[in-house]
Amino acid sequence: MITIKKLNKYYDDTKVLNDISIEIKKGQIFAIVGHSGAGKSTLLRCINGLENYKDGSLKVNDKEIKELDKNSLREFRKKIGMIFQHFSLIQRKTVFENVALPMQLWGYKKEEISKKVKDLLSLVGLEEKIDAFPNQLSGGQKQRVAIARALTLDPDILLSDEATSALDPNTTSSILNLLKQINEKLNITIVIVTHEMEVVKQIAQKALLLEHGNVIGFDDTEELFLKPDEKMKNFLGESEVVPNSGINIKLYFPKDNAYQSFITAMARKLDMDFNIVWGKLEEINTHIVGNMVINLKIEDQEKVTKYINEHDIVWEVL
Ligand SMILES: Nc1ncnc2c1ncn2[C@@H]1O[C@H](COP(=O)(O)OP(=O)(O)OP(=O)(O)O)[C@@H](O)[C@H]1O
Ligand SMILES: [Mg+2]
Repeated sequence: MITIKKLNKYYDDTKVLNDISIEIKKGQIFAIVGHSGAGKSTLLRCINGLENYKDGSLKVNDKEIKELDKNSLREFRKKIGMIFQHFSLIQRKTVFENVALPMQLWGYKKEEISKKVKDLLSLVGLEEKIDAFPNQLSGGQKQRVAIARALTLDPDILLSDEATSALDPNTTSSILNLLKQINEKLNITIVIVTHEMEVVKQIAQKALLLEHGNVIGFDDTEELFLKPDEKMKNFLGESEVVPNSGINIKLYFPKDNAYQSFITAMARKLDMDFNIVWGKLEEINTHIVGNMVINLKIEDQEKVTKYINEHDIVWEVL
């Protein structure tokens, strides 16, 4: 649905996006992740045609965005909803009026607007706040209003730029669940920009990692977290402190295996003791995955790796 090939973007002489090539499929929840200044918002603005680019190609539904004339661009942008960190609500308008705004601008009939706004407020769970003003709402409620507003013109794509960054963890989680629900119910492709790995883990099926405008990772979310390469580890700030003696083996548990007490079973079966150096289970995109580092005596290595291999567990020696 969104195909980007060899995209370069400059501000004056400064290159802020370097050779980006990605594909975002219809119905996917896709994350663009990176630290401040990585180029995330710039890439998002290129996707919705707010920012132009000279080099490379960016197609949405097979249309090259930079080739659209003014009218086509306006029509194109109608089908893209957007939400932001600070909600961008109009303070002197009620919830109803805020949500109704895009439809009013496009000249929809009053009854149509009224029905749509009510339906959307019910979808985001805010029917009873219809006459409230933004300053009477919590942060999470404001973002729900902004989400309803972004959906009024039945978009194909919803873009989210740090939409949960101003919210506490519980509210973040409930907003992400709402986005997931919208993605499933309305089959809207969602592209989220975030600097929070927790957000990626909770919601994204696929992610792009950006650093100083460069792609440092592009893969299914589970792959990125389950078997991070050096760049990803640096990115996560994860340095592995392991014992100097013996041998350290890191095990990667696939989706359904994580729950099994693999290590206990192995210890029993091989009649051996292991030190568990560290391990963690994580929920990534609704699947539980995990990795664990064990320390063992050098002479036990062969037996152990044989056992691990027999159980199709991915591992490496650290
Ligand atoms: N309009 C502009 N003119 C010149 N430079 C810009 C402009 N917008 C962004 N930049 C520069 O482009 C780079 C990428 O900025 P961008 O806003 O895309 O980063 P970001 O990843 O969204 O960061 P943040 O997480 O802080 O929002 C930065 O170095 C920024 O200073
Ligand atoms: Mg930004």
